[in-house]
Amino acid sequence: MPHPATDPNRVIIFDTTLRDGEQSAGAALKSAEKLAIAHQLAKLNVDVIEAGFPASSPEDFQSVRQIAAEIEGVTICGLARCMQSDIQAVWDAVKIAKRPRIHTFIGTSDIHIQAKFKKTRDEILAIAVQHVQFAKSLCEDVEFSAEDAGRTDPEFLSAIIEAVINAGATTVNLPDTVGYTLPHEYGQLIYRVKHTVPNIDKAIISVHCHNDLGLATANSLMAVVNGARQIECTINGIGERAGNTAMEEVVMALKVREQAFEGLHTRINPSAFYETSQMVSQLTSIPVQPNKAIVGRNAFAHESGIHQDGFLKGRNTYEIMEPEMLGIPAVALPLGPRSGRAALRMRLNALGFELTTEELATIFGLFKAVADEKKTVTDDDLVLIHQQLKALATV
Ligand code: KIV
Ligand code: ZN
Repeated sequence: MPHPATDPNRVIIFDTTLRDGEQSAGAALKSAEKLAIAHQLAKLNVDVIEAGFPASSPEDFQSVRQIAAEIEGVTICGLARCMQSDIQAVWDAVKIAKRPRIHTFIGTSDIHIQAKFKKTRDEILAIAVQHVQFAKSLCEDVEFSAEDAGRTDPEFLSAIIEAVINAGATTVNLPDTVGYTLPHEYGQLIYRVKHTVPNIDKAIISVHCHNDLGLATANSLMAVVNGARQIECTINGIGERAGNTAMEEVVMALKVREQAFEGLHTRINPSAFYETSQMVSQLTSIPVQPNKAIVGRNAFAHESGIHQDGFLKGRNTYEIMEPEMLGIPAVALPLGPRSGRAALRMRLNALGFELTTEELATIFGLFKAVADEKKTVTDDDLVLIHQQLKALATV
């Protein structure tokens, strides 16, 4: 598979819907549901599936193992704290996969080091190295995450990244765990690691952003501009608290604005986005907000008369990508109080009603009266309105 090692512009998509996504409040998934989502992620062509946290429960272990056994053509990874038993559990769950990965992490900010671990930076660095070495003794593909990298002292971050790469890490992830960094700061953080860690060419830089300030997508994009080549993300942006980077957003930003990103690209098949989004929403019982970018119900719903008229003259007046490329079934323009005659005529034609200019003027008045009453005028309403028009003509 083309990879940043052979294609410097290729961005790896690491999906964590089944791990960080499942950490969304109230989103418990059964094993069979996780497997169904994993199959769908394979259809999307993601590069890596983080299938779960095997040490967290026997059910999670079994679910990761089942995904590792069944899903082909994708790297299957599990998460582990820097603890031998966690790492062993990941390995036992993923080793059956053709491409297994162990992902281990430890908090590296002083806030985490002092409050969570009550240790020193040197102790944390030693623990990280020791556990990456252990993971490496089991598995060739090892990812290390410096949890809370966004609030970690930059010099210590560089030191721990250099040390874990020497210990065998092949991917180094720099999470903005609490969604605190601003895009220019996160870009600088990645740039610094890329340009100051002496052995960084031996690993892929990964990013993992949370959306507490609504910046996860922007931060992930700034990261790839500055040298990261793996983005960790989830479908619909679900995840801890305000969620993670939404896969559909970063992938489509890279695709729609490929020139602005100087050719950076993923191998995702966007035509599976809508189906995947719907499946994840239904199985997790987390609705997709209507105005959610890319996959929300209103993402391609042109509402005002001016927009509808422009859209009917040329889709690119108000559309920067076609919903069809995301697998979104053709959507009729929503008809409501702000719709104009062009959109009304088009919908009536689609329903099989041809109108003269005079008929259109009359029916537009009838339509406006209904639209002012109701927010949305449905096809059934239009059939009734058309019957009214015919009744008026026979009077
Ligand atoms: O947000 C985070 O830091 C994480 C790590 C475990 C990768 O989810
Ligand atoms: Zn996270």
